[in-house]
Amino acid sequence: MNGVLPPGLQWAQMQAEHLEAVCALERRAHAHPWSEQLFYDSLHAGHQAQLLLCDGGTPAVEAQPVEALQPALRVPDGRLLLGYFVAQTLLDEVHLYNLAVARARQGWGGLLLQRLVAAAQAQGAQTLWLEVRASNQPALALYRRAGFESVATRRGYYPAAGGAREDALVLRLCLQPLRLTSAQLEPAA
Ligand SMILES: CC(C)(COP(=O)(O)OP(=O)(O)OC[C@H]1O[C@@H](n2cnc3c(N)ncnc32)[C@H](O)[C@@H]1OP(=O)(O)O)[C@@H](O)C(=O)NCCC(=O)NCCS
Repeated sequence: MNGVLPPGLQWAQMQAEHLEAVCALERRAHAHPWSEQLFYDSLHAGHQAQLLLCDGGTPAVEAQPVEALQPALRVPDGRLLLGYFVAQTLLDEVHLYNLAVARARQGWGGLLLQRLVAAAQAQGAQTLWLEVRASNQPALALYRRAGFESVATRRGYYPAAGGAREDALVLRLCLQPLRLTSAQLEPAA
């Protein structure tokens, strides 16, 4: 699950200086986006938060107008933000709280998930948990392909349009213990 990144793509730890771009992506990705404060609080709490960045040299990004991804999604060092995840380790469990990409079906969501799974396995975590809107078919397809199973439903968990509520599906991935070296995990910039 620790795949090599395509040329031009890099990992970075999410930091406060990235939050303007992260929130720009978040607002595109979610009808009910996280606030900047929520991201800030996650960083402050020490949650695992990583970015997938691009320095402009990858065919996947160049295949379509780069303008579609900028300037809001440029981080301060000039690289483009392609996606991110935020997760928390609680004893031998990892909880995925947020994951989004700047453009769908480029494989970036899969890369982010692989990165998280590899990190969780390296920590010795036994289980990866997440909640997802019952209507979020792209996310459900991504997670099911990665081997997650649906184990519960939280009725009316999410806010929805017009003051309505939407169910959350609770998904679980049972992890195989795997000790990776730091070199295999490619230290983020
Ligand atoms: C959900 C999300 C992260 C998926 O990321 P992505 O980069 O599009 O996913 P990938 O390109 O890596 O797709 C990996 C696999 O997931 C499945 N998949 C992803 N999107 C799909 C879709 N719209 N329809 C069907 N299958 C889909 C496919 O099996 C796909 O493999 P394939 O392209 O070889 O067929 C992305 O749609 C997104 O950012 N959505 C908005 C934010 C969000 O909903 N986040 C999840 C909150 S729980």
